[in-house]
Amino acid sequence: MNDIILETRGLTKRYGGVHALEDANFILRKGEHVAVVGDNGAGKSTFVRQVTGVEQRTSGQIFFDGQEVSHSGPLEAREAGIETVFQTLALADDLDVPSNLYLGRELFKFRLGPFSWLDRKTMRERTLEALKTTAVKIPNVDNPIRNMSGGQRQCVAIARAAAFASKLIIMDEPTAALGVQETAQVENIIRGLKERGVPMILISHNLRQVFDLVDRIVVFRRGRIVASLNRDETDGNDIVSYITGVKGGEVSYA
Ligand SMILES: Nc1ncnc2c1ncn2[C@@H]1O[C@H](COP(=O)(O)OP(=O)(O)O)[C@@H](O)[C@H]1O
Ligand SMILES: [Mg+2]
Repeated sequence: MNDIILETRGLTKRYGGVHALEDANFILRKGEHVAVVGDNGAGKSTFVRQVTGVEQRTSGQIFFDGQEVSHSGPLEAREAGIETVFQTLALADDLDVPSNLYLGRELFKFRLGPFSWLDRKTMRERTLEALKTTAVKIPNVDNPIRNMSGGQRQCVAIARAAAFASKLIIMDEPTAALGVQETAQVENIIRGLKERGVPMILISHNLRQVFDLVDRIVVFRRGRIVASLNRDETDGNDIVSYITGVKGGEVSYA
């Protein structure tokens, strides 16, 4: 039985002369939660953008759920069952919460050629359900999200991803801008996803969070994967020495 949900082989992305991602061989198993850590500029977000098809890779292969894939964009990745919370939020300011949750996958009462009728009632009901399961508190989902705090907006993005994720969820620094309580909420959402068996890639700078939540930690450094360690077989100091290059690479004097 193939228990691998995502695998990359030799995944490489260059921006002109910048080697943002070099020869990344990455494996994620079904049900597994993996953290991706590394210094700023290590290539973590670049990795996510290649896997989700936001950008086209320079070289390498991506296998998802047993098949080689080449997603042409995040919508296609979504249709394949991959939900992503990008580091820079992809929300529509002018729209309310239900419209944001259903952005790009609206429900219709009917569609006939150019004529369509949005099923706002169902979208709103399901939005409230999704928010309930994630314990995210939004006072009024009918307000445009531009009026919401950064934390609330982030929670909407996370609730959206958690509600729709079927095969894989990727979160790129989801709690970087959040307060203590909001962070705790997001961590509960992540625990719920683990219980549901949804595999996850969590990019985070917060080592406490990483050690609390994931099964395995993958360290990126200067565009390369330099370590993959089971949570129980490593500790914070060990991870930091890989992040800084004391271990697993040349010693950095920078
Ligand atoms: N669109 C881009 N054009 C040029 N260089 C980029 C682009 N995006 C990222 N980079 C560079 O690629 C490297 C990896 O960046 P990034 O993936 O954002 O790192 P991380 O998410 O780990 O902080 C950095 O050197 C960054 O400056
Ligand atoms: Mg990043």
